[in-house]
Amino acid sequence: MTGNRTFTMIKPDAVENGHIGAILDKINAAGFKIVAMKYTQLSKRDAEAFYAIHSERPFFGELVEFMTRGPIVSAILEKDNAVEDFRALIGATNPAEAAEGTIRKLYATSIGENAVHGSDSDENAAIEGAFHFAGREIF
Ligand code: CMP
Repeated sequence: MTGNRTFTMIKPDAVENGHIGAILDKINAAGFKIVAMKYTQLSKRDAEAFYAIHSERPFFGELVEFMTRGPIVSAILEKDNAVEDFRALIGATNPAEAAEGTIRKLYATSIGENAVHGSDSDENAAIEGAFHFAGREIF
C-alpha cells in the first residue's frame, strides 16, 4: 500500500447503532474508493497489538475492551491526499470538538466510543492496512 491510501475501521459502537451504511455513504460521497474491506471482530491480542502505541495511556484497557466487544468494518480507502482528507471527513477524536457534518459529530458518542478510526500518517496507513489485510485482499 503506497501513497494516497488510508486505513479505517467503523468501530463497534457505530456497528451496534446501525450506522455502517450511512458511514459508507459519506465515505463514497467524499470521493474515496474502497480498495479493501471486511466485516470482522478483533481479538484482545489483535487490539493490544494494533493499539500498542497507546499501551501506557490510562485509557488503554478501556480502548481494548471497547474495540473487541463486537464486530467492526475495516477498510483501505484510496483518494488523493487520503490521510488528511479522511481525517477532515471524520472530525476531531472527541466528538464534542468535531466540526458539524463530520462522521464523528454525526455518529460518535464520546472520545472513547468515537465511531471511526482514521490513520494519522501515510506510514501508519500502510502499517495498519497490512495489519488487517493480506496483499491478495487489496485491490
Ligand atoms: P483513534 O484515534 O481511532 O485511536 C486511538 C483511540 O483511543 C481513539 O480513537 C479513541 O477511541 C481512544 N482514545 C483517545 N483518547 C481517549 C481518552 N481520553 N479516553 C478514552 N479513549 C480515548
